[in-house]
Amino acid sequence: MKLSFSKAAALSAALFIATPVPAQDIDKLKTGGPYVPTPQVVVDQMLKLGAVTEKDYVIDLGSGDGVIVLTAARTYKAGGMGIDIDPDLVRQSNASAQKFGVADRVRFVQLDVFKADMSKASVLTLYLLPGMMMNLRTKIFTELKPGVRVVSHDYHFGEWSPDDTISFDVPEKEMVTGVPRATLYKWIVPAKVAGKWEIKVVGGETYEVSLRQRFQNITESSAAANGRFIRPQAVALKGGDISFTLPDGKNISRFSGRVNGETMEGMVELPGGKGTAKWTAARTAAAAVVME
Ligand SMILES: C[S@@+](CC[C@H](N)C(=O)[O-])C[C@H]1O[C@@H](n2cnc3c(N)ncnc32)[C@H](O)[C@@H]1O
Repeated sequence: MKLSFSKAAALSAALFIATPVPAQDIDKLKTGGPYVPTPQVVVDQMLKLGAVTEKDYVIDLGSGDGVIVLTAARTYKAGGMGIDIDPDLVRQSNASAQKFGVADRVRFVQLDVFKADMSKASVLTLYLLPGMMMNLRTKIFTELKPGVRVVSHDYHFGEWSPDDTISFDVPEKEMVTGVPRATLYKWIVPAKVAGKWEIKVVGGETYEVSLRQRFQNITESSAAANGRFIRPQAVALKGGDISFTLPDGKNISRFSGRVNGETMEGMVELPGGKGTAKWTAARTAAAAVVME
């Protein structure tokens, strides 16, 4: 017997909050959840929320009939890939790509989403059950490049709070999911900056900076320069972009820059009308990002 999407979602949510679920139902969830297409009106909003353009490579995990990747290719001329466990849906999606004349830009492969190579993605889309979302969270957080936009239909990543959410009426969904609305969530995959950094302003001060990170948020920071303790302020991370200020007495230096793995670089506005200078940073000690 096949589970309806609403029942499977309820079971998956129950599983997530550790409510006992009958063994036979857990087995059904392991099949990955049934195929339920995202309505076209919702697909259009997902791609808008993901700010998809022709420069993007869109990967849909659990791509069904391919509607999300095909729409990205047809409407925005984006490239992309859909991944689905069901060979018939994959065949159908590749046939649609041919029919719509977008097979040179998009392809569909039969694979378990947990084995997917997502390294080419600039946008990742999902319409998967809550339990699967939670199981995929670490893979998505750690394997995608900083700055990748992740857009999900109806289900989220628990404690990894979204950077944006929209919700709107979709009457035709009531028949399928029991709810006549769609909620879309968007995350911007953050750079991983937890740890200690040595920041050098070219021709100026050197700072030792310590950062703690929970998902995309910097939860604690401290700095020192020549034995002086400095409390960083307005530390913000968005994808690979970082900004913060270092107030040293009455002098406030405003930093902005890019994170590139174990290094950072950018420009700093110096205090007292001294103009701007380049800065570079290297990580001197790594720390784990808190993911709970
Ligand atoms: C709710 S449908 C979403 C289809 C499409 N993304 C959309 O939004 O229209 C979920 C899809 O995920 C696929 N799926 C479920 N578990 C999977 C897994 N472990 N690996 C790959 N695909 C999976 C199902 O076959 C189904 O087509």
